[in-house]
Amino acid sequence: MPNPIAPSLFADPRVAQAKELLRAALADHQKQITGIRPPDPERKIAYEEMLQHFGMARGGPLFFPYLGSGLGKGALVELADGSVKYDMISGIGVHYFGHSHPMLLDAGVDAAIRDTVMQGNLQQNVESVPLAKTLVEMANRAGEAARIAHCFLTTSGAMANENALKIAFQKHQPASRVLAFSHGFAGRSMALSQITDKAAYRVGLPKVLDVDYVPFYNADQPEHSTAAAVNRIKEHLQRYPKQHACMWMELIQGEGGFYAGTREFFLPIIELLKENGVAVWFDEIQTFARTSQPFAFQHFGLDAHVDLLTVGKITQVCATLFTDAYIPKPGLVSQTFTASTSAILAAQAILDVLKSGGFFGESGRIMQVRQRVMSHLDRIRGEHPEWLKGPFGAGAMIAFTPFDGSEATAKKLLTDLFDAGVVAFVCGANPARLRFLPPVGVVTDGDIDAALGILERALAAHAGR
Ligand SMILES: Cc1ncc(COP(=O)(O)O)c(C=O)c1O
Repeated sequence: MPNPIAPSLFADPRVAQAKELLRAALADHQKQITGIRPPDPERKIAYEEMLQHFGMARGGPLFFPYLGSGLGKGALVELADGSVKYDMISGIGVHYFGHSHPMLLDAGVDAAIRDTVMQGNLQQNVESVPLAKTLVEMANRAGEAARIAHCFLTTSGAMANENALKIAFQKHQPASRVLAFSHGFAGRSMALSQITDKAAYRVGLPKVLDVDYVPFYNADQPEHSTAAAVNRIKEHLQRYPKQHACMWMELIQGEGGFYAGTREFFLPIIELLKENGVAVWFDEIQTFARTSQPFAFQHFGLDAHVDLLTVGKITQVCATLFTDAYIPKPGLVSQTFTASTSAILAAQAILDVLKSGGFFGESGRIMQVRQRVMSHLDRIRGEHPEWLKGPFGAGAMIAFTPFDGSEATAKKLLTDLFDAGVVAFVCGANPARLRFLPPVGVVTDGDIDAALGILERALAAHAGR
């Protein structure tokens, strides 16, 4: 039988040489990126015009005046106006290995010599096989009782969640309702706009799904909040017997404000769901690789209970993972696109590095990054209690409430911070918080110190000092 020819192309020494050459070119140009830098005044008008045109094309302005140039170095990113900033939000948790990482350049070159830009469910290349396997392996850590056996790859977090939702409904038909924590964010599709507990994100949309909300953990009243959540679920289950297919859960709320639950909070809820045959679905699209373990459900020791699991962002290729009991019937889930070839190869490279050591555990890099950011915020709050409340969150998901907690204050501070050279983002409402999702794979202690120094000066300026 003839062997496939492709592996010999991928192993061709000229490909390795090309990568070396490209890495050298990248490194040469990256040398000019040494720290933050203000915009080039001569580019100001052209840049603003570009932003305006793009805003018009997309039907509304961008949140930040951010258009990347296409180059960066670690946590530093260059914008098309010539400025260089610390990226402490990583595309809302996507660019875990920062900007212009040589590992991802290699993945991109490997993708470029493959036959297609995109891959799909009808015609997929071999790389999806190890990728799905790696995600399943990471969801089943040794010595724990997770039963995740399958992984369906897809293009976005929303699509991964849509697939999980459909899988849960098909399994539990004719159940038609979903339980969800209040103030969660599940994505932007019609159905997920109903699970997402934010009125502004569903203005004008018809209701396509019945969602029953459950209050999330309140760190100020741990026992009370557990009882409140359990009682609310009981009420919903009594009001609509056998009508709930699943409970969608963020274990650490992302867009909702970086509120983290606890094992003691989640366990009684999960037990109740199991007793009533309701699927337990963890949305780990924002939490993956942000706590002491690959998945937050592992961080909270909830391995034995997961039925459905969704992942995205850092993984580049998004996915719905599930146990044997939730295998969908043929025809339920599919899509033209699985992902781009470059995303599939980048995803594998990222997961391999994450698995290779140093990131997880109580003293792994993720928790080190947390400690460093937290220590700055704790110190600032200690010295100026009126400047911020918190810090909040878990692992490398860190937020604080600036000043009065109003949306206007958070947005103003965010803009000031952006202009001063740090990209962060908001989360939560009443109070509005400022959040960081640092690029853990590349951010250095020096980067953190510099970025938090800029934050301290922005807070001081806001306080009028
Ligand atoms: C918890 C959670 N679920 C789902 C999504 C939706 O993912 P995407 O924006 O890739 O569709 C997000 C995105 O922020 C998220 O944070």
